[in-house]
Amino acid sequence: MSLVHEIDYGTPASKSEKLVTLTIDGMTVQVPEGTSIMRAAMEVGNQIPKLCATDMLDAFGSCRLCLVEIEGRNGTPASCTTPVADGIVVKTQTERLKKIRKGVMELYISDHPLDCLTCSANGDCELQDMAGVVGLRDVRYGYEGENHTKLGKDESNPYFTYEKSKCIVCNRCVRACEEVQGTFALTISGRGFDSRVSPGMDESFLSSECVSCGACVQSCPTATLNEKAMYNIGTPEHSVVTTCAYCGVGCTFKAEMRGDELVRMVPYKDGKANRGHSCVKGRFAYGYAVHQDRILKPMIRSSIHEPWKEVSYEEAIAYAASEFKRIQEKYGKRSVGGITSSRCTNEETYLVQKLIRGGFGNNNVDTCARVCHSPTGYGLSVTYGTSAGTQDFDSIEESDVVLIIGANPTDGHPVFGSRLKKRLRQGAKLIVVDPRRTDVVRSPHIEAAYHLPLRPGTNVAIVTALAHVIVTEGLVNEQFVRERCDWEEFQEWAAFVAEERHSPEAVEKYTGVPADAVRGAARLYATGGNGAIYYGLGVTEHSQGSTTVIAIANLAMATGNIGRNGVGVNPLRGQNNVQGSCDMGSFPHELPGYRHISDDATRASFEALWGVGLDDEPGLRIPNMFDAAVEGTYKGMYVQGEDILQSDPDTKHVSAGLAALECLVVQDLFLNETANYAHVFLPGCSFLEKDGTFTNAERRIQRIRKVMAPKNGYADWEVTQMLSNALGFPMNYSHPGEIMDEIAALTPSFAGVNYKLLDEMGSVQWPCNEKAPEGTPIMHIGGFVRGKGKFMLTEYVPTDEKTGPRFPLLLTTGRILSQYNVGAQTRRTENVVWHAEDVLEIHAHDAEVRGIRDGDFVKLDSRAGSTSLRAVISDRVAPGVVYTTFHHPVTQANVVTTDYSDWATNCPEYKVTAVQVSPSNGPTQWQEEYENLSRTSRRIAAE
Ligand code: SF4
Ligand code: SF4
Ligand code: SF4
Ligand code: FES
Repeated sequence: MSLVHEIDYGTPASKSEKLVTLTIDGMTVQVPEGTSIMRAAMEVGNQIPKLCATDMLDAFGSCRLCLVEIEGRNGTPASCTTPVADGIVVKTQTERLKKIRKGVMELYISDHPLDCLTCSANGDCELQDMAGVVGLRDVRYGYEGENHTKLGKDESNPYFTYEKSKCIVCNRCVRACEEVQGTFALTISGRGFDSRVSPGMDESFLSSECVSCGACVQSCPTATLNEKAMYNIGTPEHSVVTTCAYCGVGCTFKAEMRGDELVRMVPYKDGKANRGHSCVKGRFAYGYAVHQDRILKPMIRSSIHEPWKEVSYEEAIAYAASEFKRIQEKYGKRSVGGITSSRCTNEETYLVQKLIRGGFGNNNVDTCARVCHSPTGYGLSVTYGTSAGTQDFDSIEESDVVLIIGANPTDGHPVFGSRLKKRLRQGAKLIVVDPRRTDVVRSPHIEAAYHLPLRPGTNVAIVTALAHVIVTEGLVNEQFVRERCDWEEFQEWAAFVAEERHSPEAVEKYTGVPADAVRGAARLYATGGNGAIYYGLGVTEHSQGSTTVIAIANLAMATGNIGRNGVGVNPLRGQNNVQGSCDMGSFPHELPGYRHISDDATRASFEALWGVGLDDEPGLRIPNMFDAAVEGTYKGMYVQGEDILQSDPDTKHVSAGLAALECLVVQDLFLNETANYAHVFLPGCSFLEKDGTFTNAERRIQRIRKVMAPKNGYADWEVTQMLSNALGFPMNYSHPGEIMDEIAALTPSFAGVNYKLLDEMGSVQWPCNEKAPEGTPIMHIGGFVRGKGKFMLTEYVPTDEKTGPRFPLLLTTGRILSQYNVGAQTRRTENVVWHAEDVLEIHAHDAEVRGIRDGDFVKLDSRAGSTSLRAVISDRVAPGVVYTTFHHPVTQANVVTTDYSDWATNCPEYKVTAVQVSPSNGPTQWQEEYENLSRTSRRIAAE
C-alpha cells in the first residue's frame, strides 16, 4: 500500500461545454472554455510551478511562480489566472521564466526558517518541492536581513498549530476559510512586510470564529498550519480511502497511516458527498477509537448489581445464547428482540435483523431511526413511493431558492452547510423555518430572505399556510401537477389548503409567525426558480412529524420542484448510516428494501435463502419494547451500537424497561449508559477497524475500509455471526462483501450493488439495478416511483404537550458542531474544549423574570422529570422558548422529554416539551444518583 495522491490541477475545473484548442509546449490541448492555462497544462502532464494556486480554490495570482509566455502577447502572465483561448501558443519553460521563478523562490527562502530536517512538513511541503522544481541552489540575499523567522507559534487549537514564521502569505488558508468552509475566520492583517495571517482580530485560533474544519490546514503549502499529529508521529506512508462515521453527509477521507497508527484524515476530493471538504469531527475527532475507555474484552454478570467478569468471546456468546433460549422457552418466542445500529455498517445491520427474524423467530427489531427519521420513511413513501431523499448533494449547486425546515446544517451537517453557504454566496435565496435563529439565518456574507421563527409544534400549520398562499395566489405549477400527480387528489388538497383557516393570517395567532413573512416566503419558493427543500429532525420529531413530511412533499409537487437537478425534498439524515439501517430492514414491519413482512412473496424469498420460516406479524417498536418489558412480557434484548438509555425519550421509563429485562446484551465501544443494565457486554469495533458500507443521506452507498486490526479482536458483524451460530441459526460469511451479495440478491433496489462496483465507481446511489446499473442520483425523473404523486390532506392537530402555569416555556433540542449525539465518541476527543457541558439557551426576558443570570445553574422541570444545567442568555431563541443540546449524559435532556410521539411512526416528540426553568444550586438528586451508578459501573468494569 502507498499514499493515495490526488492530482492538484491548480485551479477548479470549468463547467463550460464549449471546447477551446491551444498549444502548450508544442502539444495540442483541448479543454473547456474558462479553464486556466495552468490546468490545461496539467491535462498534458506539464506541472507549472505554483504556490498560491490549488484546485480547491479560485485562482488568486499572488506568488508569481506560475508565469508563462504566450506567443504574440507581452509579458509573462500568471498561468493560474489566465484562461485558455483558441489558438494560443504557450511556453511554460524558457530561460526568462526559469530566471524569474528562481528569483521568486530566492525571496521566499531568504525569509524562511531553514529547519527543513526537523520541520513537521518535511517531505510534505510545497515550498520545499518548488525550491527543487525551479532548481534553486543558492540564495543571493543571504538570510540575515529583516525577516519573520523568529515569530512564535499559536498552539491553541487542539488539533493544529499555526507556526507564523513559516508563512509565505500565499493566502490559500484565508481563501479556503472563505470559499470552501464559508466561515471567514481568517484575514491577512498588516501591510507589505508586516502582512500576516490572522484569525479574527489578531486572536488565537481557539478564541476566534474558527470552527476547526481544517480546510486552511489542508490548503497550506508549508508547515505554517499543520496537524499536531504530523509533529508527534511524522509523515504518513500509506493511506486507505474510507468514509466518515459521524453524520449522514458521508464524507470520504483518505486515512493516512504510518504503520497501524492513524496520522491524519484528509478529505478526498473524489468524495462525491464532500468534494474534498470536512468538518472538525470527521477530520480530527477520531481519537475515541484508541481511547483508554474502550472495552476490549467480553464481560458477563448474572445480575446488574454484580461486578462484571471478563470472559472469552466463546463464554460470553454461549451465555447470551443460552439466556435468550431460556427466556424464549419460559416466556414465549416473542419475548426477546433487538436494536440495530445506525452507526454500524449496512452489512452489520442486515445481520442483526436477520438474526432476530431468523434466529429469534420474531420481528422484534427496531432502530434509532424510530427516534429520528421514521416519519420521513413514512411520509415520502406514501406520497412519492420511496422512503428517502430525492437528490444528491451536488444538486444544491443548481438551486435558486433553498427552504430549510427544522434543520441546522452548519452544526448538524457541516459539510453540506458549507456547500449550501457557497451557493447562497453565489446568489441563491434562503428561507429558514426554525424556532431558533440558526447560523444560516445570518452569518458572514449570508442573510436569509425570510426567517419564520415558528412556535415549536406548529410546523404543519406553517407548511400548510405556505401551500395556502401558493394555491390561492395561483402559483401552482399546473402542468407538472396534471402530468405527474393524481389530479383529483390534488384538487381535493387545493380546496383544503385554500380554506381561510389555513391562511397565514389565521395561523399567525398560534404559530407566532407574521403573516406577511409567510406570504413572502411562499411566493419566493414558488416563483424563485429551482426550489429545494432540506429538512431535519425539527420536522420529524413531533407528534405530527409524518404530517409535516407529507405537507413538504405536497409543497414540492404543487410547485413542480421534483425530478430534476436543483430541486427536491431532502431529509438531512442524522447518523452516518441511518438511511442504510432503514434500507436494511431494521423496522419491525419491513424486510430489507421496505417490503412489508406480511407480503408472502417477499417473505418466501428470504425464507428460501435463509432456510428458515419467518413470522408474518410485525414485531415491537422500541417504545413498545419498553412498555412490554415493564409489563413483564418482553425479557431479553440484543442492542448493537446504540445507547438507548441516553438517546430515547422519557429516560425514567426506558430505565424501568431495561431494569426489567432478564438478559440485556450490549455491544458497544464503551461501557455506555445502557450497559448499566446489561448482563452481557460484547466489545464493539470502530469504523477504522472493519470493512463494510454506509449509506448516506443521498442514498449513496460507500465503502468503509479497515485501516487497522480490530482492537477487540473481531468486527461487529463477526460477533453477530457468532451469536447467531450459538442460537442455532447458522451464518458463515468470511467477508462483508459476501453479506452485500446476499443483500443484493434479496433487495431489488440494491440488486446491482457489489464491492467491485463500489471500488470502481467510488460510490453508488440506490436504486442500483438493471434499470440503473450506475445508480440513481436524482429520483422521480419523469414520474414518481409510486406512479402518480399523491397529494394528502394535512390537518394541523396541536400537540397534547401544552404550556400552562406549571410549565410555561417550550423546550426544543438540537446539536452543536463539535459534539455528536450522545457524545460517546466526541466526548472522548479533544472536541470537549468547545463544549464541555450542555447549556440551556434562554431569552433575556424569560431569564429576568425568573432571576436567572448568564451562567447560573438552573433546574429544568417537565411533567416527565427534572434535570439541571447552566443557563446561557441568548437572543437566538424567542421569549417563551428554551433550547438545549443532548451531548452529555450528566445533563440527560431526555429526562424531561415526554412520551408523546408521531401518530404514524411513534417517533418521539423531542422537539416540544413544556417546561419550567428555575434557579438551582447544582445537580438534581436524580443526576447525582445517576452519576453514582455510572461511576460504580465503570469501577466494577475496571476491577
Ligand atoms: S480551520 Fe476552518 S474555520 Fe478555522 S480558520 Fe481554518 S478554514 Fe477557517
Ligand atoms: S498560513 Fe499557509 S496557507 Fe496561509 S498564507 Fe501562510 S503559508 Fe499560505
Ligand atoms: S460533515 Fe459529517 S460526514 Fe462530513 S466530516 Fe463532518 S461529521 Fe463526518
Ligand atoms: S500559482 Fe499562479 S500566481 Fe501563484
